[in-house]
Amino acid sequence: MNISFAAPSVPSSGALVVGVLEGKKLTPTAASLNKQTEGALERALAVGSFSGKKGELLEIVAPAKLSNSRILLVGLGEPAKLGEKDLEDLGGAAAARLLTSGDDKATFMVDKLRGGKAAPERAAHYAYGALLRSYRFDKYKTKEKPEKKPKLKEIKVMVEDAATAKRLFQKLEKVAEGVFLTRNLVSEPANVLFPKSLAAEAKKLDKLGVKVTVLGEKEMKKLGMGALLGVAQGSDHEPQLLVMHWEGAGAKGGAPLAFVGKGVTFDTGGISLKPAAGMEDMKWDMGGAGAVVGLMHALAARKAKANVVGICGLVENMPSGSAQRPGDVVTSMSGQTVEVLNTDAEGRLVLCDALWYTQENFKPKLIVDLATLTGAIIIALGHEHAGLFSNDDTLSEQLTGAGKAVGERLWRLPLGPDYDKALDCDVADMKNISGGRAGGSITAAQFLQRFIKDGTPWAHLDIAGVAWNTKDKPTVPKGGSGFGVRLLDAFVAENFEK
Ligand code: BES
Ligand code: MN
Ligand code: ZN
Repeated sequence: MNISFAAPSVPSSGALVVGVLEGKKLTPTAASLNKQTEGALERALAVGSFSGKKGELLEIVAPAKLSNSRILLVGLGEPAKLGEKDLEDLGGAAAARLLTSGDDKATFMVDKLRGGKAAPERAAHYAYGALLRSYRFDKYKTKEKPEKKPKLKEIKVMVEDAATAKRLFQKLEKVAEGVFLTRNLVSEPANVLFPKSLAAEAKKLDKLGVKVTVLGEKEMKKLGMGALLGVAQGSDHEPQLLVMHWEGAGAKGGAPLAFVGKGVTFDTGGISLKPAAGMEDMKWDMGGAGAVVGLMHALAARKAKANVVGICGLVENMPSGSAQRPGDVVTSMSGQTVEVLNTDAEGRLVLCDALWYTQENFKPKLIVDLATLTGAIIIALGHEHAGLFSNDDTLSEQLTGAGKAVGERLWRLPLGPDYDKALDCDVADMKNISGGRAGGSITAAQFLQRFIKDGTPWAHLDIAGVAWNTKDKPTVPKGGSGFGVRLLDAFVAENFEK
């Protein structure tokens, strides 16, 4: 989508998008269009249920006296109550309506309004929402009918002080690039995206100034990453440890923030094989790693003034003659041993070595890991919140706040010694499952916590319920959501760049 900003003027072609306030109150531009069309807007408002409430849409096609194809009325509600996320949702909803309407060009008119945010800021977030919604992963569709393909290519946003709007939008656009990168990675099938090809995509971040290094099997063996390597050993694809370093704050910025991602490029369950139905979903079991890669893109592209390291364990979990068996005991990089009772609880085995590596090599200020870790988190929270587990209240609040601001919401669940006990094992230092289904997401988080050193603020985000959308949302078309990129970008910006 090509998005630009300009000073207000009404173009003579394409779709026009204008706001209407709560109670059918026309914005100045809507009022002027109403006049030009000899009352078309008023007539439309008189015959429908549209009242100007936030998010309502009403389309007037082929308006009288104008050569424009249509006028899309967008309910703004009360301007004083419009936050950034509301504006993004409105932009997304308007874009969704227009993508396949037949127009290739739309003009969003943003008026000065009394109350709430200034027009340039509203314009930037409105456009950002439209951009986020216009994403599509269609590279493998070679026979799509033209009328089904989105035709909209260009959105012009008309607003006074367009220069300010443009400046604000430019940062948001970088974050959207990161979100799109994550969505692309999550959407790719596992025959295309495997550990080496995912690492190769991440290497492209060096163009933005990110230092990218990749460890292979040999190097990980030397480091003693027996837990991660045990998961990988059944696959023909070599595992990779991806390390991305962005030093936007320089030496004086001190220790980095660390983001660690689960990157299981396909999870068959291994010898503890998953059922056939729905197994294709496990191509997005690298959603945590995908989010970390997209986040690094966003931070580097907008030149975030923070030191950040992104670390992803990339493996494929396959059953084969060389796969690990239930009952195998592996030694993790930390020295702790694990009895693998279920080869499908593989995410924690990958993460425990990635987490240990991160602490040993970077002594980070804090760690946030992201993982499509448990089906149980979907039972607990559905698809509306990701699970948050943490040993630090401040970090939890910062993350929860960032999530609310961008609409990637988190819900904190408990940790504690009584849950931890469930991992005790007769054979090794711990087992990789608790044995029952009770509190499955919590016991998984407890497993990870056994690999966090005392004094390191740490949060674990279980994103199994939110990494993939089965329904459209205002700023997220169905498919890979990119969850985590906007959240963590905002978390960094709000708490470490001011
Ligand atoms: N990748 C899955 C979790 C998952 C399930 C992600 C559904 C997305 C959607 C994970 O590796 C897994 O298999 N977890 C098991 C753990 C169990 C064996 C303790 C699960 O949730 O069933
Ligand atoms: Mn699994
Ligand atoms: Zn998995």
